[in-house]
Amino acid sequence: NSEMNQDILKVLVTEEELQARVQAMGDELYEKFAGKNPLFLSVLKGSFIFMADLVRACQVKSDVEFIAVSSYENATSSSGRVKITRDLQEDITGRHIIVVEDILDSGNTLAFLVNYLKARGAESVTIVTLLDKPARREKAVHADLAGFTIPDEFVVGYGLDFAQRYRNVPYIGVLRPEAYA
Ligand code: PRP
Ligand code: MN
Ligand code: MG
Repeated sequence: NSEMNQDILKVLVTEEELQARVQAMGDELYEKFAGKNPLFLSVLKGSFIFMADLVRACQVKSDVEFIAVSSYENATSSSGRVKITRDLQEDITGRHIIVVEDILDSGNTLAFLVNYLKARGAESVTIVTLLDKPARREKAVHADLAGFTIPDEFVVGYGLDFAQRYRNVPYIGVLRPEAYA
């Protein structure tokens, strides 16, 4: 049962496709980071579900950290102003950071974060995003690893919200226009 299925116009990525791709991404990160003690950094809130699945798909010795940033302010396009709403709680000096994002859209969030993490002393910053929407890019940000390239449609589910809702939808879907109203 789901109260939200009726608000979804179409499914873009199914649960099965998500599971298979996240495991493949975990395998790829294992090859790259085994022995390097990376820090998985989840960009909240959107990446919380992807983060939980990705860290279990990549059995390297590592730790997890969280930072919360927000720029969408209940709209469907980025305001361009990125606010840190929960800062890092750990020293990241000299660390190999794997930034875990749910979506790379305008690039404002990741452009800001990469600068911020380097300023805080990160040794390396690797960008991992589940979804990449190149059509709307405003900043020259490139993902080191992306799960799926998607068209220019507003998507929800698997952590992604519209106005804080739909994060618990278990697949990636496109919202019906009526649901924005
Ligand atoms: C969304 C999404 C990414 C960012 C991507 O976060 O989770 O973090 O926007 O968009 P961009 O490339 O245009 O910056 P949002 O600001 O909605 O906060 P949330 O993660 O709490 O939903
Ligand atoms: Mn986000
Ligand atoms: Mg959001």
